[in-house]
Amino acid sequence: MTATAGLNNASRVGSIPLSPALGAEITGVDLRHPLDEDAMRAVKQIWNDGLVILLRGQDIGEDDQVRFAQYFGPLNQSKKQRAHHNAANPAVMWISNIRENGKLVGALPDGEMNFHTDQSHQETPCSGTMLHALEVPSVGGNTLFANCYTAYETLPDDIKAKPEGKLATHGYDYDNASTQRGTVLREGVPHATHPVVRTHPETGRKSLYVNRLMTLRIEGMDPAESEDLLNDLFDHSERPEFVYEHVWKPHDLLLWDNRCTLHARTDFSAAERRLMRRVTILGERPF
Ligand code: OGA
Ligand code: MN
Repeated sequence: MTATAGLNNASRVGSIPLSPALGAEITGVDLRHPLDEDAMRAVKQIWNDGLVILLRGQDIGEDDQVRFAQYFGPLNQSKKQRAHHNAANPAVMWISNIRENGKLVGALPDGEMNFHTDQSHQETPCSGTMLHALEVPSVGGNTLFANCYTAYETLPDDIKAKPEGKLATHGYDYDNASTQRGTVLREGVPHATHPVVRTHPETGRKSLYVNRLMTLRIEGMDPAESEDLLNDLFDHSERPEFVYEHVWKPHDLLLWDNRCTLHARTDFSAAERRLMRRVTILGERPF
């Protein structure tokens, strides 16, 4: 990465596709400095087209990350602050398996996670999630991203019409930090009901909006029928040709669009440290 003095401007912003499925690496941006309006417009366009953006080699602090995230909209304030030497900004949350004095310093600590989209169990799920890698294991802990526009557009004929106009209920228990479908949810954990096919507010494109980790049932269907259809939809949307697998390096920064992608995490050794700094951008009610 070439360091740019002062403001980042649009003439330097470039992009390289990450995979046939989705993703774009953005070049010519140094997040230690602000972006001017045209540079941000270029970045947003690359995000809308690519669904996931990657900026490599960003040796940045939390203020730099928060400033960049704020260009995309107001940020969620993390409700639960955990002890960590570095977490001064309330928008920052840590994803980590590190334990200090026996206590976790972050959320979603260990191992594999099923495909999901962030906060689909809330009325207004975040539009985007940004992770900045500080420490990564030598093997695994990769993040997989699936393209839900493609999933919708390529639904097989025998199930194509079924999700149209349907609503699904999503539930999740962050405190329990379940990472696999089928975990029994405690009474009173947050639930929300959203369209199974949603429309992206910026691109106008339709995408499939159900996920293996958090989607409990399709409303108005017999439970067994709902489970069968959901499993077909999960299997379809997770097909390898719709997926990009990101192998992290320290100082990678990724922003994904929760309105049109799913993500999952591969397993990694509990003996290795993983530390990600996370901010999420407030979203809108899915429609
Ligand atoms: C998340 C998440 C995946 C990862 O932060 O929402 O799912 O690779 N993270 O840690
Ligand atoms: Mn997630």
